[in-house]
Amino acid sequence: MSNISIHPVKESRAKDLDFDAIPFGEVFSDHMFVADYRDGKWQDARIVPFAPITMSPANLTLHYGQAIFEGMKAFKTEGGRPVLFRPERHASRLNESAHRMCMPDVPEQLFVDAVNKLVGVDHNWIPPKKGSALYIRPFMFATDEMIGVRASHTYKFMIFTGPVGPYYSKPLKLVTADKYVRAVPGGVGEAKAAGNYAASIYPTELAHKEGFDQILWTDNIEYKYIQECGTMNVFFVIGDTVVTPATNGAILKGITRDSLLTLLRAKGVKVEEREVSIDELIEAHKAGELKDAFGAGTAAVISQISRISHKINGEYYHMELPPVDQREHSISLKEEINNIRAGILADEHSWMHEVKVLDTVMG
Ligand code: COI
Repeated sequence: MSNISIHPVKESRAKDLDFDAIPFGEVFSDHMFVADYRDGKWQDARIVPFAPITMSPANLTLHYGQAIFEGMKAFKTEGGRPVLFRPERHASRLNESAHRMCMPDVPEQLFVDAVNKLVGVDHNWIPPKKGSALYIRPFMFATDEMIGVRASHTYKFMIFTGPVGPYYSKPLKLVTADKYVRAVPGGVGEAKAAGNYAASIYPTELAHKEGFDQILWTDNIEYKYIQECGTMNVFFVIGDTVVTPATNGAILKGITRDSLLTLLRAKGVKVEEREVSIDELIEAHKAGELKDAFGAGTAAVISQISRISHKINGEYYHMELPPVDQREHSISLKEEINNIRAGILADEHSWMHEVKVLDTVMG
């Protein structure tokens, strides 16, 4: 067990919360976790009241973006027990990102203990409703104060949490990328690095202006091979096969992606991880074989796609997908994963980890 001190708030803000009206990512729980990397090791691991942090204008992260994060969730089971979904996998993915960004590892035990303790202290912030969750945001950033381009020698690893409902509220209208890319093999697309999200913001704004919800990201050479959609991995059901782009260095190794593949394979569904081209989607759509399409990520879990638009010779070709209530896999997968998290279905893959409630906070 890691040595983590707890400095609780005097009174919890949770009692003022309306769990039925929470915008995504705008409400934060009482506490946050902080640890500092100095002299080659993580020090002063602590849980303190959620509060702003100060930094020098010369902080390296502000200039060169040595910053990574994770997105994970805690749930309440039907019996009211707080549980985490796949915390060890999130710990190891943070370190995969850290490695690519030349940042230090966070010992997996420290990561898992920190998440457990923080959620244990703020368990009263976990929304009770199935499908809602406590979103957990672990992140690490450089803290050296200098503006030479090099790896920082000091870092902060922090975690805060906040209750959330659904990330995308309706099925998505996507437009294929044909000029800007999110990431390229050999770049940092496989890392959960802040810069990947920064690169997506301007093209996504342009897509919004044209009436689309999100971008279906493609490769940077032919703008033809699909990578991700919006901030999620993407799945298609073509005939009786579920297909998702194989990770290739530009695609995040999504933990929801991996969990859905595992559930599908366990059910004997034909699953393929391989290159998927827009041409293949258009052909399948014309043949009536494109049965379902959905994004998958921690925040959204599963978000159905209602339409994919792709420009051919300056004109949009629109692929309308079947009505959402007729989709076989996206509906049943979402139900299945939510039921595992709620403790209604057996946790066959040992994904769920119970959190010990720590009653340190009054009120
Ligand atoms: C997640 O699904 O957790 C993500 O990382 C998306 C986030 C940028 C909202």
